[in-house]
Amino acid sequence: MSDASTTPTSTAANTAANTAVKSGGAAAATLIRLSQVGKTYYRGKEAVEVLKNLDLEMPDGAFEALMGPSGSGKSTLLNLIAGLDNVTSGSIQISGVDLSRMSEGERAKWRSQNVGFIFQTYNLMPVLTAAENVELPLLLTSLPSAERKKRALTALRVVGLEERASHRPDQLSGGQQQRVAIARAIVTDPKIIVADEPTGDLDRASADQILELLVKLNKELGKTIVMVTHDPAAAERASIVRRLDKGQLT
Ligand SMILES: Nc1ncnc2c1ncn2[C@@H]1O[C@H](COP(=O)(O)OP(=O)(O)OP(=O)(O)O)[C@@H](O)[C@H]1O
Ligand SMILES: [Mg+2]
Repeated sequence: MSDASTTPTSTAANTAANTAVKSGGAAAATLIRLSQVGKTYYRGKEAVEVLKNLDLEMPDGAFEALMGPSGSGKSTLLNLIAGLDNVTSGSIQISGVDLSRMSEGERAKWRSQNVGFIFQTYNLMPVLTAAENVELPLLLTSLPSAERKKRALTALRVVGLEERASHRPDQLSGGQQQRVAIARAIVTDPKIIVADEPTGDLDRASADQILELLVKLNKELGKTIVMVTHDPAAAERASIVRRLDKGQLT
């Protein structure tokens, strides 16, 4: 897979921060910075203020867990950081790039180059094989087919499922499906991985395997991970745990 530093958003500061994280040295630079972020949804005329004046800094190379009661705004916050949605007020800067000023199309392009997604219910395409599912994000790139297939297999190897490459999701266990989803999340070599309750549908043993894998992606591949979870055992694996309540960090 290509080096993350080839992404257009990389800066000298990030490179220095990566080095610091990998060598266990000085505190890493800020990768994700939210300033006075507000998010309000509208249902007809009714406004639902979900996030209020949120200030938040996440360091490069961190493994962050976001906890909090149902409806507290965790997924909303995660989606803003991932560029899936835009703020109502305030700004989000990632590697110094201001997501809140981008058009939807610009954000989609930024997202495809910088973020890998892991969902509670895996979101795999049922008619495609594991390898084809993993290859999907690469269809947005100009890579030739042979290279795409090679990278998909490399990503499946990282999650220990290379020998299941030709299996369809219904031929895999829940834990294996989530590992395929993780391979799909890393195949473009994104800087950030967002995971919304990645172990929510899994038994303890499979959940622990997924968490091991996330720790490995963080420690060995230097991915910055933001994970929403209700599972205290999952949060324990993170380097930083934050709690959200009624749209505010507590
Ligand atoms: N697209 C939307 N339109 C209107 N309201 C929304 C929308 N998305 C979320 N909300 C509301 O925003 C609030 C926060 O939702 P969010 O999904 O961020 O919570 P959460 O902390 O992830 O909860 P859970 O733990 O149940 O997943 C809820 O009151 C929800 O109803
Ligand atoms: Mg949620």
